[in-house]
This record gives sequence, C-alpha cells and structure tokens, in this order.
Amino acid sequence: MQFELSNVDKVYVSSEENKVFGAKNVNIKVLEGEFMALVGPSGSGKTTILNLIAGLILPTTGLLKHGGQDITSMSLEERTKHRLDYMGFVFQDYQLLPILTASENIEFPLQLKGFSKKEIKERVQWALVQVGLEGLGNRFPKQLSGGQQQRVSIARAIAGRPQIILADEPTANLDSKTAAEIIELFLKLNRDFKLTFIFSTHDQRLIDQVRTVLYVKDGQISESRVHNV
Ligand SMILES: Nc1ncnc2c1ncn2[C@@H]1O[C@H](COP(=O)(O)OP(=O)(O)OP(=O)(O)O)[C@@H](O)[C@H]1O
Ligand SMILES: [Mg+2]
Repeated sequence: MQFELSNVDKVYVSSEENKVFGAKNVNIKVLEGEFMALVGPSGSGKTTILNLIAGLILPTTGLLKHGGQDITSMSLEERTKHRLDYMGFVFQDYQLLPILTASENIEFPLQLKGFSKKEIKERVQWALVQVGLEGLGNRFPKQLSGGQQQRVSIARAIAGRPQIILADEPTANLDSKTAAEIIELFLKLNRDFKLTFIFSTHDQRLIDQVRTVLYVKDGQISESRVHNV
C-alpha cells in the first residue's frame, strides 16, 4: 500500500465555535501508480482530504500512512521534508511566480531540494519535454496560455521525481478541451512513470478516464468506483 487514510476525521472549529466535519470516517487505500479522482460538490471535503494526504493538516482522529511511515506522528519539520521528498502539487490557479520564467519556476523547488546546478538544468529540460513545452522555458507566465501555464506547473511538480502528485481542481480554470488535454497529460505521466495521481474535480466529463473515482459528500466517501481503463 502506497498511502492509507484509516478512520480519519477532520473537525474544524469555526470562529463561532461551531464544529464542522471536513472529513468524517474517511478510509482510502492508494495503490502505487493509482489514478484517482475525488468528485463532489463545493464544501464536500475534497480539499480537506488532499491537504490531509499532503500532511498540510493533521486528522483530529485516525491515521495517515505513507508506505510504512506514520505521518501523524511526524514533527512539522519532518512532514515538510516528507512532502518535499515524495509529493508534487498542481493547483487550480497554477501558482507560478510571475517574475520568473517557466524554467525558473520549475527550478525553484529543485533548489530547495539541494540539487546541483547541472542536475537542475537537466531536470528542468526533462520536465519541459514531458509536458510538451520544449523551447518555451524562457517565456514568462503571462506570455503563456492558461493550459500552457498549467503545463509549467505540472513540470514543476514532476521535476523532483515525486511518488505522488496531488492536484486540487487542476482543470477548473480551463476550457473543456484544454481540461481534457491536461487529464491526458496526467494519464501519460501515470503510465510512463507509474506516478500516482490524486486530484479533485467538479467536472463529471473528465472522470470516465479515471481508474478510481471517490464521490465525496458531507466529508464522507459516499461511493467509490473502480474501472479498468
Ligand atoms: N479552515 C477551515 N475552518 C473551518 N471550516 C473549514 C475550513 N476548511 C474547510 N472548512 C469546512 O470544511 C468543509 C469541507 O471543505 P473543503 O474545502 O474540504 O471542501 P471542497 O470539497 O474542497 O469544496 P470546494 O469544491 O468548494 O473547493 C466545508 O464545510 C468547509 O466550510
Ligand atoms: Mg476545494
């Protein structure tokens, strides 16, 4: 098992002292090379589940395990290092730094990881090729289309060769054709590198190609479907 959430509750306490279950008795088993979508309406708990897997928030009760490692017992520093070592992130709004070129945006997390200059250069080139942006590394984000900007953010996420990509609504800002192309790219990276993908979406049209679909409702997994794709 690559990643496991066991009996996870996440209770948020709002400013009015109201308790809200962001996640309620969530059990998810993620296999190596999994391609998984979390689907559900606004407020159902998709971001909460992704943030739990990322170790950005801790469960109120329950366990998070990556391989043999118990994430819930790690210190904040250990969780940060774990995230940098094993996970890549893709966001709805790309989160590229506007003053950096595409290549420099991809470099940024590699510098944090302490790679040599030569290795960084090679990895950036490799990542640009993987996402179909060879030759566009010197462009600034504003000189790229939304779909191309999302490709840069995917290149940034994969350049460190993580095990798991977490993506919160990665296609929400894109038209349906570009959204489908981004899911195609995810599938290619999943096939070529056995890279695990867990992403959230509102878009029912995208989920036919997804191996495992988890429907989220009121913080719970209300239904799961596995298809052979
Ligand atoms: N930091 C927080 N403090 C209090 N309540 C929160 C917090 N974060 C999320 N919630 C609540 O937890 C529930 C789940 O929220 P979450 O953001 O996980 O939903 P979501 O499925 O990602 O929604 P969306 O599709 O709008 O992004 C909601 O009721 C939300 O209001
Ligand atoms: Mg969300």
